[in-house]
Amino acid sequence: MKGPKIVSPIPGPKAQKIINLHKKVIMTTTMVPYPIVGSEAQGALVKDIDGNVYLDFSSAVAVANVGHNNPEVVKAVKAQAEKLIHFAGNDYYNEPQAQLAKELVSITPGKFSKKVFFSNSGAESVECAFKLARWHTKKPGMISFLGAFHGRTFGALSLSSCKSLHRKHFLPLVPSVVHVPYAYCYRCSFNLEYPDCDVWCASYIEEVLQHSYPKEDVAALIAEPIQGEAGYIVPPKEFLPKLEKICKKNGFIWIVDEVQSGFGRTGKMFACDNYGVQPDIICLAKALAAGLPMGATVARSEVANWEEGAHSNTYGGNLLACAASLANIRIIKKEKLCEKAFSLGEHALERLNEIKEESKIVGDARGKGLMIGVEFVKDKKTKENAVKETEKITVEAFKKGLILLPAGASCVRIAPPLNIQPELLDKGFDILSDAIKAVESG
Ligand SMILES: Cc1ncc(COP(=O)(O)O)c(C=O)c1O
Repeated sequence: MKGPKIVSPIPGPKAQKIINLHKKVIMTTTMVPYPIVGSEAQGALVKDIDGNVYLDFSSAVAVANVGHNNPEVVKAVKAQAEKLIHFAGNDYYNEPQAQLAKELVSITPGKFSKKVFFSNSGAESVECAFKLARWHTKKPGMISFLGAFHGRTFGALSLSSCKSLHRKHFLPLVPSVVHVPYAYCYRCSFNLEYPDCDVWCASYIEEVLQHSYPKEDVAALIAEPIQGEAGYIVPPKEFLPKLEKICKKNGFIWIVDEVQSGFGRTGKMFACDNYGVQPDIICLAKALAAGLPMGATVARSEVANWEEGAHSNTYGGNLLACAASLANIRIIKKEKLCEKAFSLGEHALERLNEIKEESKIVGDARGKGLMIGVEFVKDKKTKENAVKETEKITVEAFKKGLILLPAGASCVRIAPPLNIQPELLDKGFDILSDAIKAVESG
């Protein structure tokens, strides 16, 4: 597949038909502001149903870390499908599930004994962590962060606080969750400056515990190592270690949600590895199985002590997903994709900083590896969110053949496959730069 290449009007005639049908029969609420009807894909390129080829800077929402339809993943899934597609992994035994759990125990941070629970999505992996923390501690309380996104099921949604809209008309949610400010240095909730602040946002949690939230009632603290849906917000290096210390000191279960940041995305196998932290529970999904639906919750063995029958599902440990995931991890290791993500990420941030220098509306560019956020503002001094402009930039880029994923109030996420060719990465930044210029010049 070659591209990006636009060969038909957008949307093309075939796409328009599917979009009309979709609108009639599908109950979704989160479609992007441009019309793409995906039909096939390879690596970092996606072909739509009318033959237009797009460069995917989203990896289909941080999933295709080893590239779309990686041939080794396809081969592994085909081979497994010939043998056995499903054999309820929470009720019966199967080898791929056991092998994958062994692999996850070995590659996740912390050289201690761990156990894995398999599910089907990020929200479910968080649900499991939430339930396990309550089960293990017999306490109700959870500490989470403003801007957090952990999924849409009731438990996961209770921990989330990215946009009020996500929670509107769903209240009351699971009680006893408190949200505290994240280390969003570009828009510090306390109006402080790093490093002079001494990462006060982490210390503030102790204030909350002292004045309003009894630590004796807290089961766990959950954090994304880099906030995802909020716009790829990278905290300063001290933030996560400080959170880990607070958990240890107060006896909280330390949960890290690596659903969006895992599997090489940040230049290390897991984002936690950038900060030297070792959570008690790690939530995984998205890039875990290279496009097959799978979630996993990896917990310290001594925490994973719930009794028979406490938690289960039908599809967890599905054999096709396990085969895909084992191939996925093999590829990441064999092709040194963490190292690639790291060096491509350095180059990407250089390009973005050049774009930021020239632009009046690029307020912030930040990232680790190929998990990069760009935040658009109306004015660099007031930092007013450039909401309409952000949407226009994503639409303009799309018309030129680039898929960008919006996030937060006025951010786009840059998260291409980790094995993207350097020329394609540069091509994407050329398109992004042109799109920004086009929107700036009205
Ligand atoms: C950090 C994080 N956790 C959990 C989820 C929920 O995952 P899913 O959409 O697979 O339920 C997401 C999804 O974007 C996420 O980014």
